[in-house]
Amino acid sequence: MQESTLQANYTLNTTIGEIVAADYRTAKVFETHGIDFCCGGKVALSAICQEKGINPDTLLRDIAAIKMEQIDRSQNYSSWELPFLVDYIVNTHHAYLKENDVKIATYAQKIAGVHGAHHPEVVEIATIFQKIATDMAAHLLEEEEVFFPAVKRADAERKNGNSPSKEDSNVIKESLAKLGREHEEIGDAIHAIRRLSKDFALPKDTCNTFMITYQMLKEFEDDLHKHVHLENNILFPKASQL
Ligand SMILES: [Fe+2]
Ligand SMILES: [Fe+2]
Repeated sequence: MQESTLQANYTLNTTIGEIVAADYRTAKVFETHGIDFCCGGKVALSAICQEKGINPDTLLRDIAAIKMEQIDRSQNYSSWELPFLVDYIVNTHHAYLKENDVKIATYAQKIAGVHGAHHPEVVEIATIFQKIATDMAAHLLEEEEVFFPAVKRADAERKNGNSPSKEDSNVIKESLAKLGREHEEIGDAIHAIRRLSKDFALPKDTCNTFMITYQMLKEFEDDLHKHVHLENNILFPKASQL
């Protein structure tokens, strides 16, 4: 791999998360190659290429090509002001979770009851998802009641040329570590569901509820990836600099 083929602003040691945070358009490339840019975004480009058996040159060419596409400012998250980014996360991703977590858990329990005997994996999926739903409710509460307000206050202080209060500094520091750990746990859990469901492949002998549950689980994973990407790769690094 020639260094000259790399993008000017990053190297093979740059992490996937950093690349997507710097340019949201590159997310599409990683998705196409089946690379997790959010929960697993802390992995360097070189390591992920080795793990997935992808030629780094191919990946870099695809990234370079997508960077030729026009930038859509409505999706250029890293350029947004922190309070706007926080509100966006709450109004889109948190709203989605509040509306769907319990619904998906109920559906998963239902198919576990009906199909569990022939498909033991769905019993395990229902148990894992129930834990995700419970953990997620506490996680959202901590973000909305504790972390996000502290970030907004610290950002306002910064704009006035002041340092954040000692209390907010401590809250932000502690929350960053805790919330980051929880993202990893929830990410691992949804990836375990993907494995158990064999990438949400529908067995032949199943019903509509089964199909709807798998569709909802896939949609949940999709939303989680975008949500965790915005927090892990954009919001958290900015918050840690407050
Ligand atoms: Fe969140
Ligand atoms: Fe979060």
